[in-house]
Amino acid sequence: MANRRPVIAGNWKMFKTVNEATDYAVRFIEEVKDVTELDIILCAPFTALYPLKNELEESIVHLGAQNMAWADQGAFTGEISAQMLLDVACTYVILGHSERREMFGETDEEINKKARKALAVGLTPIVCCGENLNVREEGKAVERVQGQVTRALVGLSVEDLSKIIVAYEPIWAIGTGKTASSKDAQEMCASIRATLTGLMGLAAEKVPILYGGSVKADNIAELLTEPDVDGALVGGASLDPISFGKLILNANPLVARVEGI
Ligand code: 13P
Repeated sequence: MANRRPVIAGNWKMFKTVNEATDYAVRFIEEVKDVTELDIILCAPFTALYPLKNELEESIVHLGAQNMAWADQGAFTGEISAQMLLDVACTYVILGHSERREMFGETDEEINKKARKALAVGLTPIVCCGENLNVREEGKAVERVQGQVTRALVGLSVEDLSKIIVAYEPIWAIGTGKTASSKDAQEMCASIRATLTGLMGLAAEKVPILYGGSVKADNIAELLTEPDVDGALVGGASLDPISFGKLILNANPLVARVEGI
């Protein structure tokens, strides 16, 4: 993770009612209250964002959404705008998650429009990329991911690119219990950084690149020893406040050093 500040983001996906979300927040804040060495984000379903705004207000935990519209407002039934996310104190938004790409047909072009909109209003986009198993087995994973990143970020200024987070999530590792090896994660995160360098020059050294796909409390520390892996986007293992708290403590470099992990 070089000298970049690590980021650990939980993606709850389509889990948790308002009550479940607020109970979680109370317990989670207690678990992570002494964490100083990394940024923590909870990306919750839309319905839980407003109640979480109130719960997380005084805490070190940042709030994120899992998607948003590229349009400002208007006749877009079922969509949520960037302004609406700001309104409930979101500061981050996941864009282009593979589940949105695969199940809802989201394209790189739409993700690019959403990233522009998020940046225009001051939200930090967490732009996702990742290959499926076929593409990996054909040896085309790097090419696929670099293409996704380039198309999602085309036309953004260096200033805007300096504000984004990229998350590499190989589809074959999501929810399967099959984590990419830390070497595979490093190889892809380094190639993403090379793509970013092509777009923004040396400023790419500052962009956090996260790994996602079956990250757990017992594999986070090893992933973070890799120079280009700056944190994690965590699905299943973020759903329980105590075990997600443990994952975060294992990622906190100071704690890791003290515990000799
Ligand atoms: P899992 O951690 O459940 O594999 O999910 C990863 C993910 O999709 C996070 O966005």
